[in-house]
Amino acid sequence: MTQNIYKLTILKLDHRPERDKRITTHCALVSRAFGADEFYFSGIEDKKLIENINKIKKTWGGDFKIEYCKTPLKFVKELILKKWYVIHLTMYGLNITKEIENIKKIKKNQNILLIVGGSKVPREYYEIANCNVAVGNQPHSEVAAISIVLYLLDSNQLNKDFEHSLIKIDPDSKIKKVINL
Ligand SMILES: C[S@@+](CC[C@H](N)C(=O)[O-])C[C@H]1O[C@@H](n2cnc3c(N)ncnc32)[C@H](O)[C@@H]1O
Repeated sequence: MTQNIYKLTILKLDHRPERDKRITTHCALVSRAFGADEFYFSGIEDKKLIENINKIKKTWGGDFKIEYCKTPLKFVKELILKKWYVIHLTMYGLNITKEIENIKKIKKNQNILLIVGGSKVPREYYEIANCNVAVGNQPHSEVAAISIVLYLLDSNQLNKDFEHSLIKIDPDSKIKKVINL
């Protein structure tokens, strides 16, 4: 299992429970499954979302943290002052295939914040980020963008064991096998 020494945190901007319920839930789930430590979301506060992700964590284990962030720009500025490296994921950025080796090096020495947008990302985030990075320069989805970046950063996360889980899958090519721990 790969141990994260420095933190890898995701910030999802502009959550709207009516429109984005599943998208933000899926952003949090892929963040947890593919190796991020923490997930923050801004926009409308959504206790149900936090409750659902914490239920998953209780059953499936791990130390993943989810929190609401009321003032995201202030939050990002504070992390920059604390020397975090901030990456904004946008189709307008530099292609991840060219940036990934550099990001892997940064991850060895610095906490990283990955920002993903919602409907429209304010200009300030493009300017304040240390780097704007694209997962291909075509429009797609924040869920795909997070999962591909996390996979490219460390594909071993797919083999990670989540500690303190109540259940665990015993992988099988034919049938569902779940172990109660
Ligand atoms: C549905 S998209 C919204 C796209 C929107 N037109 C915009 O202003 O960027 C929501 C988020 O998904 C992420 N995203 C979508 N396509 C991406 C790409 N090719 N590379 C990186 N991130 C992407 C970005 O974080 C974006 O803010």
